[in-house]
Amino acid sequence: MQLKSKDLLGLEYMSREEIELILETAKLFEEVSGRDIKKVPTLRGKTIINLFYEASTRTRTSFELAGKRLSGDMINIQVSSSSVTKGETLLDTGKTLEAMNADIVIIRHSSSGAPSLLSKHSGFSVINAGDGMHEHPTQALLDMFTISKKKKRIEGLKVVIVGDIFHSRVARSNIWGMKKLGAEITIVAPPTFLPREVEKMGVQVSYNLDESLKKADVIYLLRIQQERQKGGFLPSIREYSRLFGLNQERLSLAKKDVLVMHPGPINRGVEISPEVADGPLSLINEQVSSGVSVRMAVLYLLGTRK
Ligand code: CP
Repeated sequence: MQLKSKDLLGLEYMSREEIELILETAKLFEEVSGRDIKKVPTLRGKTIINLFYEASTRTRTSFELAGKRLSGDMINIQVSSSSVTKGETLLDTGKTLEAMNADIVIIRHSSSGAPSLLSKHSGFSVINAGDGMHEHPTQALLDMFTISKKKKRIEGLKVVIVGDIFHSRVARSNIWGMKKLGAEITIVAPPTFLPREVEKMGVQVSYNLDESLKKADVIYLLRIQQERQKGGFLPSIREYSRLFGLNQERLSLAKKDVLVMHPGPINRGVEISPEVADGPLSLINEQVSSGVSVRMAVLYLLGTRK
């Protein structure tokens, strides 16, 4: 089996079988990262380009590590010092990379749909590393990979996603992906943080975190995206933290083996307290490690696709 599309643009239209293929392939690559010499020759001769129009630590670095561990020729374009600053359009940048025979371009962009636009006008594979408020598919894949490792399944798990669903591409990708794998999802947020189409997403909605926590197998906290909060979505950060932040006292309401997750970067003391973020139930660092294996799997499946 192989992926149907040359691109990975989102999980909304990806099948359960394709998601499972990526997660199974990631399991195989996980062992490579534990070796003394962390390298296999699988993508030798392939050119992979990181094109990030927005800031990133985890996604950009783990794609770079993943590409290098697969022996691909990995290039990072610093958009702030590229010809984008001279007004070059996304499509012209794409044509330039195509002329250099790029095989895979990994793009993060503030506009929803930018990866899709690039894909329509390019022969290379495009991987969406986060576009506006739309999707961040490899984040959701690494989250599902991390949960599967701990719980041995996704099917039937009760996942509570807390926070700014409206602005969150991570939430959207996780909702599409986890629902396909059979999880039951409850989103918990102040009303201003809920998207208009929320009923159509097939999730339950709650405004009471304490009640939702009691049933959860996974608590997934979202970052308060202070850079996207211009519309007066919150009365105050302190109020949000009091009602929707996860601290030790609140966590004591949950099951003993609940998993606490966050895509990072975290706002300590806002959506998660430092003792919970650094505590024994937190998977934040394991999510980061999973990111390398999952991104190796995605690069491998797209880079070797016939
Ligand atoms: N989770 C995530 O996408 O982190 P970065 O912005 O650091 O890539």
